[in-house]
Amino acid sequence: MRSSSSLVGRDLLSVADLSADEVRRIYATAATLKAEFRATRRHAVLPLPGRTLAMLFQKPSLRTRVTFEAGMAQLGGHAVYLTSDAVLGARESVRDVARNLERVVDAIMVRTGPHEVAVELAAQADVPVVNGLTLREHPCQALADVFTIQERFGRLDGLVLAFVGDGNNVYHSLALLGAALGMEVRLAHPPGYAPNDRIVTRARELAAGSGGRLVFGHDPSAVVRGASVVYTDAWTSMGQEAETEERRDAFAGYRVDDALLDAAAPDVVAMHCLPAHRGEEITSAVMDGPRSLIWEQSENRLHVQKGLLVELLGGGAPA
Ligand code: CP
Ligand code: NVA
Repeated sequence: MRSSSSLVGRDLLSVADLSADEVRRIYATAATLKAEFRATRRHAVLPLPGRTLAMLFQKPSLRTRVTFEAGMAQLGGHAVYLTSDAVLGARESVRDVARNLERVVDAIMVRTGPHEVAVELAAQADVPVVNGLTLREHPCQALADVFTIQERFGRLDGLVLAFVGDGNNVYHSLALLGAALGMEVRLAHPPGYAPNDRIVTRARELAAGSGGRLVFGHDPSAVVRGASVVYTDAWTSMGQEAETEERRDAFAGYRVDDALLDAAAPDVVAMHCLPAHRGEEITSAVMDGPRSLIWEQSENRLHVQKGLLVELLGGGAPA
């Protein structure tokens, strides 16, 4: 994580691009915006009037698209939705897309497969580029998730989050962010589905500086013991559809159900970034049950990304 303090003009490709203090600043802005929006469904002072965000989607989305688009509108700005047939290599190079967009919009959000495409876009564009999911990371998701955890428990230090399933993009961002903020982030994964080594090395470095911890295992019931958060995600991420059957077999024992939650801490909550595959990685009983924090975490995508946009675009602190 970096130590500089101004977020204006910065890219967000990885949660590790942010210092712990910068995360706290985004959270403070998000919390203010959330309180105001919850009370009145609008903001008395619009922090981003006339500002525009281009959103490049090379994969489907519900939450990311709607929360960024609604968020920009609520802040007084505007978002432009672009699909894969219009952008990033299909019609013109990443470099040329960057050179056009930077002259017209104030920021770019990108959802794509290869992380390198987002990195290249950020290198070429003079305006902030936000990673809206790559195969390596989903930083906006993790920022909203950890905000949700802090809201629920009032603390992060030493709190145990057990991720059950694939060592994927969502796990990577949670591991980096949780480790940087002093959490114990565990992963129960089937053999062969370990996370990226370089991410784990970086997360361990961050944990060493914060008092956080990373733990790995293959047995979900052992890994969730004492955990206050049990988190899961799809067994097959977007772009891996050819592996669906093989993954269904490999992950069959990695379902979050009430019995697994019973093996965790008494105050446990279940989280899922969504979209969920009910009956696969999570049961409907858990999703719709009293221990679910899933809908709060989904809503917080809106508030946290609004906080992020205000900080990156220099919209000034909300009233
Ligand atoms: N969690 C998430 O990013 O959802 P979408 O894929 O619907 O954007
Ligand atoms: N790991 C999932 C997250 C979806 C929001 C994917 O990449 O498809």
